[in-house]
Amino acid sequence: MATLDLGVLVSGTGTNLGAILDAVASGRLDARVRLVVSNKPGVLALDRAAAHGVPSVVISHRAHDTREAFDAAVVAALRAAGVTTVVLAGFMRVVTPVLLGAFPDAVINVHPALLPAFPGIDAQAQALAYGVRITGCTVHLVDAGVDTGPIIAQAAVPVADGDDRDALARRILAEEHRLLVEALSWVAAGRVSVVRDGGARPRVRIAPPGAGAPGAAPSGPAS
Ligand code: GRF
Repeated sequence: MATLDLGVLVSGTGTNLGAILDAVASGRLDARVRLVVSNKPGVLALDRAAAHGVPSVVISHRAHDTREAFDAAVVAALRAAGVTTVVLAGFMRVVTPVLLGAFPDAVINVHPALLPAFPGIDAQAQALAYGVRITGCTVHLVDAGVDTGPIIAQAAVPVADGDDRDALARRILAEEHRLLVEALSWVAAGRVSVVRDGGARPRVRIAPPGAGAPGAAPSGPAS
């Protein structure tokens, strides 16, 4: 329903950022990447931002005494850039209520496993070690936990015989790129909302295409 004003937080290679930038450039995603924030200098994600003419800033977590102080600096930069939706794309820091409170139900993460299976670091290695035959990736809203927020989208990825960690990670990563852009396109279309009913776990609701914000009158002539 409205062009997303994205801020993308990165820590490394930035292939998920690349997928977003390519989708925006090709018109597949109704968004503008207003700012890329990296907690590490000199990473490939920063080169990807530069190649697309997107402003970036390095905010080192080492320059702040607490996670909250780091988040406050990130929030200030995102707000100054006009960001309204934040994407954690290969971002390796746990965010705090300082960031989540500044962008309620608007911080999105991509995780290389079918949550709630295999949260945390190296989910690909966890899946191999467990011996699952199917793993995958998850795009979810970030809450105060680690990889525990309401799920927007998931995609299954088979584990092949003989897979090592890197082969599996590559196969999952390709699916992450597709799924993240698709999930963001649903957000841009106003189709994503969070249902909170009493003590139950919050759930994401995806309105049908064209329905706009869930609960909103369908666009176009009255049926
Ligand atoms: C990806 O597997 C992502 O899911 C995880 O970090 C890895 C690298 O992402 N959080 P990127 O290439 O930096 O986007």
